[in-house]
Amino acid sequence: MKKTQTPLLLLLLLLLLISAVAGLPSTIYFTTLGRSRYTFDIFTLPILPTINGQDEVQLTDGQSVNYNGHFPSPSQSSSLLSLVSNHTIPYPSSSPPPHVLIYVTERHGTTNIYLDVYTPKTFTTKPHKNPSRRSALEITNRVQFPLLDHPVKGSSSTFTTTMKDRPSILGDTDELIYVSTHEDPGRPRRSWAAVYSTRIGPGGETRRLTPRGQADFSPAVSPSGEWIAVASEGERGWGGEVEDLNTDIIVFRSSEPEKRFRAVRHGGWPTWLDDSTLYFHRRSSVDGWVSVYRAVLPNRRGGEIRERLVKVERLTPPGFHAFAPAASPTNKTFIAVATRRPGSAFRHIELFDVDRRRFVEVTRIVSPNAHHYNPFMFHDGSRVGYHKCRGSEGDGGGKNGSPLFLESLESPIPSVNLFRIDGSFPSFSPDGERIAYVGLPGLYVANRDGSGKREVFPGLAFATGWDWKRKGVVYTSIGPVFATEQSGVDVVSINVDEPGAPIKKLTTGGHNNAFPSASPDGKWVVFRSGRSGHKNLYIMDAIEGEKGGIRRLTEGPWTDTMCNWSPDGEWIAFASDRDKPGDKPAAGSFAIYIIHPNGTGLRRVVYTGEGGKANHPWFSPDSKSIAFTTDYAAVSAEPIANPHHYQPYGDIFAANIDGSGITRLTHNAYEDGTPTWGPKYMKPTDVAEQLNDKETCEFDDCHWLSEASKQVNQVQDKRVCA
Ligand SMILES: *[C@@H]1O[C@H](CO)[C@@H](O)[C@H](O)[C@H]1NC(C)=O
Ligand SMILES: *[C@@H]1O[C@H](CO)[C@@H](O)[C@H](O)[C@H]1NC(C)=O
Ligand SMILES: *[C@@H]1O[C@H](CO)[C@@H](O)[C@H](O)[C@H]1NC(C)=O
Repeated sequence: MKKTQTPLLLLLLLLLLISAVAGLPSTIYFTTLGRSRYTFDIFTLPILPTINGQDEVQLTDGQSVNYNGHFPSPSQSSSLLSLVSNHTIPYPSSSPPPHVLIYVTERHGTTNIYLDVYTPKTFTTKPHKNPSRRSALEITNRVQFPLLDHPVKGSSSTFTTTMKDRPSILGDTDELIYVSTHEDPGRPRRSWAAVYSTRIGPGGETRRLTPRGQADFSPAVSPSGEWIAVASEGERGWGGEVEDLNTDIIVFRSSEPEKRFRAVRHGGWPTWLDDSTLYFHRRSSVDGWVSVYRAVLPNRRGGEIRERLVKVERLTPPGFHAFAPAASPTNKTFIAVATRRPGSAFRHIELFDVDRRRFVEVTRIVSPNAHHYNPFMFHDGSRVGYHKCRGSEGDGGGKNGSPLFLESLESPIPSVNLFRIDGSFPSFSPDGERIAYVGLPGLYVANRDGSGKREVFPGLAFATGWDWKRKGVVYTSIGPVFATEQSGVDVVSINVDEPGAPIKKLTTGGHNNAFPSASPDGKWVVFRSGRSGHKNLYIMDAIEGEKGGIRRLTEGPWTDTMCNWSPDGEWIAFASDRDKPGDKPAAGSFAIYIIHPNGTGLRRVVYTGEGGKANHPWFSPDSKSIAFTTDYAAVSAEPIANPHHYQPYGDIFAANIDGSGITRLTHNAYEDGTPTWGPKYMKPTDVAEQLNDKETCEFDDCHWLSEASKQVNQVQDKRVCA
């Protein structure tokens, strides 16, 4: 967003975008693990003297997903107020003065940073029968202000459609400090996350604070505004870590961002107590527990910080996880932390008395059976904010609070619409009217407006694909996912238009036969099978299955999987680890390949490097491009700050089949996968769930926080091998 960006760069970017989608308008649908259940809102509780459910207040409005809040200081709040009054309706004067909250929101299909001004009508209220039903009703005169709309106006979609995170205000300026992913570092497996400063006031210029080629997360501004601390990957880059990012705490002056000092090796989520004291979290390499640490910086009169003079001390003991610390500049006694304690399945916010080394419960008393994320302190230390799932109240995104079946996202490519589906492995009928997907368990079919949803198979099925000629015939694989070569998975076809949906088994023997995709002439089905001891690709008769004829398409001691037959019949795309086969995640690089159905023309399309992942390829309707999920853009936030994602690096990309025009389509800290490319352009409007069989708030906290030490040296999840 630097104003100095050359038009040439923009032009190049435009050319890239255009070349990635030469085709007619179409739509990509994909899955984000758990996201349709998040319904996050920001809440607050007083920290003392009495903590009871009656005092919890929901601060955000129950629209979309709202998280990672920040309370500006009183002086920051008053200048923000005058800014809001200049740009929108003047805020009615009230006594006491209104409160200001800054937070991240995903409304309107993109992430933005919002500022809410509101009058807290009743922070202490009469006892209420159901504390969890406290709500935004107590917030009056709310004014909302999207903070990043000025720089966005007239600028390219590469800014609006990208991720924004961890907002705060720089000292007594009108500069918003935040993370954004709008600049491509130009190398695979590099995070696009960098810290920026944008003036909210007139002019609205943006500065990049992170050096090019590096990635920074979790920025924290010191109380005076002089210093900024970040969790940084430095020049080392991302090595595939998911549980513990292995970042360092880097400190720099806000006026001199290019002069960076490493204050602490291995640490994340910094927060300032004063201009020389930082708290941060780190996973102990000795006992495996994530704990909060303190770093006291040496006198910096010379302007330089020498790492060896930084005093680092572990504050919270082993035996449970304590992380995401938040300090208040006016109360040096307490910091707020998130905890996961053995015996509790939930993440809670607690206060930690730094001097006495004692914890005070905060959220467990109010909502024991909910996860509470990423605390932040009110400037005077009297309240703590956090986000949690609001439940079925408010607006789940759909009308009447129901979750969304299809959530429309702003797409960086004008001719391709993007939808997040509440399900996995979607695929479209050839006429583009119906969608099949799986619920893990269950195979479902619905019309694309969400109507007529029904379960056609109750068991464990994964991967779906429609027959091009025989109406209503859907292929899938039945059996356990992410299993070994010899596990009992078979390819079946199901005629979803016949009563009782008769199931026809096309493979036998259960040698992990999966990922069926039909040829456009209706004669063949390509699938992967572990029958030789390795997962390779085979083609069989579409109607009779392997009884009617089978031939091997690929062969080798590696894994070829997730195959997709192009609509023009010329190519089969698949994911393969042949460049570096092996079970160990560091070895198992998955790349996208294409091959002609007659076995000629094998070509690698996308490879993100050793240990890299590019999976789930799916052809565009014109067969010229491929959508896929990949770690190309690494991770975009500290994974511990979110619910569980096996592969938080997963983003949806598209590329031409010759490997050119690699284009990032999704930007978030979640796990995006299983894209399908629908044949029709679908109006960018959300579609609500009409038949909902799951609860909102049904998602997992980071699995690796439920136990500690035994997982310390365990490498990343193996699910990617599917
Ligand atoms: C708001 O408007 C007044 C009067 O036009 C101006 O003096 C002031 O600088 C503006 N404040 C901000 C923060 O833009
Ligand atoms: C910090 O907050 C606690 C709890 O509200 C309070 O008891 C204590 O006096 C405060 N300390 C300071 C220095 O403000
Ligand atoms: C294999 O298929 C491709 C694409 O249809 C075709 O161009 C090529 O000539 C075929 N090769 C052989 C040996 O049949």
